[in-house]
Amino acid sequence: MADYTIYNDDTFSVMSQMPDESFDMIFADPPYMISNVGTSCQNGKLVKINKGKWDACQGAEANFEFHKRWLKECQRLLKKDGTLWVSGTYHSIHPCGYAMQQLGIHILNEIVWFKPNASPNLSCKYFTASHESLIWARKNYKSKHYFNYAAMKDGNFPKDTLKKPNKQMRTVWVIPATPQEEKKLGRHPTQKPLALLERIIQASTKPDAIVFDPFMGSGTTGVAALKLGRKFVGVDSEKAYCELAEKRLNAILAQLSLAI
Ligand SMILES: C[S@@+](CC[C@H](N)C(=O)[O-])C[C@H]1O[C@@H](n2cnc3c(N)ncnc32)[C@H](O)[C@@H]1O
Repeated sequence: MADYTIYNDDTFSVMSQMPDESFDMIFADPPYMISNVGTSCQNGKLVKINKGKWDACQGAEANFEFHKRWLKECQRLLKKDGTLWVSGTYHSIHPCGYAMQQLGIHILNEIVWFKPNASPNLSCKYFTASHESLIWARKNYKSKHYFNYAAMKDGNFPKDTLKKPNKQMRTVWVIPATPQEEKKLGRHPTQKPLALLERIIQASTKPDAIVFDPFMGSGTTGVAALKLGRKFVGVDSEKAYCELAEKRLNAILAQLSLAI
């Protein structure tokens, strides 16, 4: 198998053609579905959120059915002892969590990713959003899962002010929002930091794992997977994001080959 494979297509049509139990781990950062309904702070200004058509709200019922549909496919594609990570804000994480419960996907943990450098709230009418949630789950209630307890307890996480040396990793992770240097090959509106994906992949996969991302975006999951010696398969419907992901994946492979 190649180090990575990218599909520029609709995730449902790609996943429907994949065989059962193809992947050791799946990380999914699905659309938040807020682009026609929310506001945000950009360069100090209050702006309407417009990430693209792929992020439009379809109404609560349709949003839920969308999430349940891709989650069902992911459950089928997970190996028996594989695990699934779902990332989101409050807009998307609750329907995803409920759909997972309906599908019998066994939730193992909920992680709070705290961003110490989150943007301010310009409206001053709400608390300042400074975290995202991640659900970690396994295929079903009978399946087993892999957890690299030692790497999480003994690892070095210098920017995480809550992680003390030789203490168990807790469910609140302090990781700054994606730094500019990770955006030098191009921009994606919801690009995740590499440190977040590296921690996830280290925690939940063995070195020979195949990692899948059904909503790949800029390819952060793939960059982290290759950096840690895993294989990667990703899907995105937007050509520009697939091109950006390909650039990032080739750059990390080049960097790794220079290091040998
Ligand atoms: C929240 S972003 C993922 C960002 C990614 N985690 C990163 O670090 O760059 C969701 C992505 O899903 C893609 N997407 C949305 N609906 C899709 C669909 N039906 N099929 C394939 N890709 C889709 C969007 O183009 C977008 O890039």
